[in-house]
Amino acid sequence: MTRSEMLFTEAARFIPGGVNSPVRAFGSVGETPRFIASAKGAYMTDVDGNTYLDFVGSWGPMILGHSHPVILEAVQEACREGLSFGAATEREVEMAELICSLVPSIDMVRMVNSGTEAVMSAIRVARGFTGRSKIVKFAGCYHGHSDSMLVKAGSGVMTAGIPDSAGVPAGCTQDTLTAVYNDLESVKELFQACGSEIAAVIVEPVAANMGVVLPEKGFLEGLRRVCDEYGALLIFDEVITGFRLSLSGAQGYFGVRPDLTTFGKIIGGGMPVGAYGGRREVMELIAPSGPVYQAGTLSGNPVAMAAGLAGLRLLRDTPGFYEDLNQKADRFFEGMKDALAEAGKPWQLNHIGSLGCIFFTKGPVSNYAQAKTSDTKAFAEYFSFMLRQGIYLAPSQFEAMFLSAAMTDGELEGVLESFKNYLKESQF
Ligand SMILES: Cc1ncc(COP(=O)(O)O)c(C=O)c1O
Repeated sequence: MTRSEMLFTEAARFIPGGVNSPVRAFGSVGETPRFIASAKGAYMTDVDGNTYLDFVGSWGPMILGHSHPVILEAVQEACREGLSFGAATEREVEMAELICSLVPSIDMVRMVNSGTEAVMSAIRVARGFTGRSKIVKFAGCYHGHSDSMLVKAGSGVMTAGIPDSAGVPAGCTQDTLTAVYNDLESVKELFQACGSEIAAVIVEPVAANMGVVLPEKGFLEGLRRVCDEYGALLIFDEVITGFRLSLSGAQGYFGVRPDLTTFGKIIGGGMPVGAYGGRREVMELIAPSGPVYQAGTLSGNPVAMAAGLAGLRLLRDTPGFYEDLNQKADRFFEGMKDALAEAGKPWQLNHIGSLGCIFFTKGPVSNYAQAKTSDTKAFAEYFSFMLRQGIYLAPSQFEAMFLSAAMTDGELEGVLESFKNYLKESQF
C-alpha cells in the first residue's frame, strides 16, 4: 500500500469522502488521490516521493508556478507583522488600487475569501441595484457552491453525477434561469418572457468548468446588448479567466465590458482570496456605504493580500508575460491537436491562452450538452496513463488543463511524446 492509499483510507474516516473538495477524490477516474507533500515551480511531489509535472496548478492560482520565491518572501514578511487584525490595512488599499488600475470596468472592489463568496455577493448587489430577483446563468458554468448557483453547474457536480445538489430548497433556485452557452436566442427568449424581472446575466466568459468551451464570435457582445436593452447587469465570472487570459482578464482579451466582475484563484497567489468589483454606482450600494449587506472576518487578510499583491505585480511587471505564456501554450495544444489527427482520433481539443481540454467525443464542443457526450471512460484511461508518466492532469473530463509560466518548452515537448505514446496504446 502506498502512503497516499493509507492516508486516503484514514482520511475517509474523518473527512466526508476523504477530501475537502469533491473532485480531489479522483472518483471519476478510478484512482486513489495522490497526497501532495510539496510543490516547486512546475512540479508537485507526493508523500510517496513521486514527482509530477502539474497541469492543475491548484485549479488555477499557480500561473507563476509553485512556491514562487517573490510570493513566498512577501508572505513570510507579512506573517512576521501579524496574521490577522480584523482592521483596515495598507495592503488592502494597494490591492484595490491595483485591481482597479488593471481592469478598466472596475471602479471599486471588495475583497472576500473565495470565488463562491465573490459570486454570491455580486449577485446580491446586482439584485440590490436593479430591485429585481431573477438571475440568468448558463448550463455547465460553475459559479461556486452557493445555493442559487447550484443549478446545472459544471465542475465536480458533473462528475459526482449530482444533477443539482440535495439540501438546496426549491425557493433558493426559483429565481435562477438557465440558458444555453453560445446560444443568444436562448437568452433572448428568457428576457422576452420576463426581462423586467431579470437582475443580471452571469457568465464564465470562457467556460472552464465543463471542460474548456470558448465563447463563439459575438456571444459575449450579444449578452452585453441584451442586458443593456432590458436594464439588467452583466456579470463576468472571471474566477478562472481573471489575470489568466490577460492582465485585464477575459474582458480585456475579448473587449467586452461587464458591469460586475468576480475574481478568485490568481488574485490570491495561492492563498484563499476572492473579490468582486465593478461600476461605482453599483458598488457604492454595499455596506457600510449602502444597504446591501456583505461582510467577512478574514476578508482582506494581510497575509493573503501580500501573496496576491506580489503575484499580480509580477504578472504586471514581467515584460511579455502573457504573450510568452499564451504562445507557449498555443504551440503545445496545437501539437496535441496534430498528434490526435496523426493518430486518426476524432477527439476534440479546445484551447485558449494557457487553458485547454481534450473532449473524448467526435463533434465540436460549444455547450454543455455537447460536452456531456464525452466518453469519460476514455478520459479515465488517458488520465491514468499520463499520471503514470509523471503528468498530473485534473482528475475529471470536465476541468481545464492549466499551464504555468514555470513550464519549459522542453517539458511540454516531453508531455507531447507521452501523449503520442498514449494515443498508440489507447483502447478507445
Ligand atoms: C468560474 C468559477 N467561479 C467560481 C468558482 C468558485 O470559487 P471557489 O472554489 O474559490 O469558491 C470557481 C471555482 O472553481 C470557478 O471556476
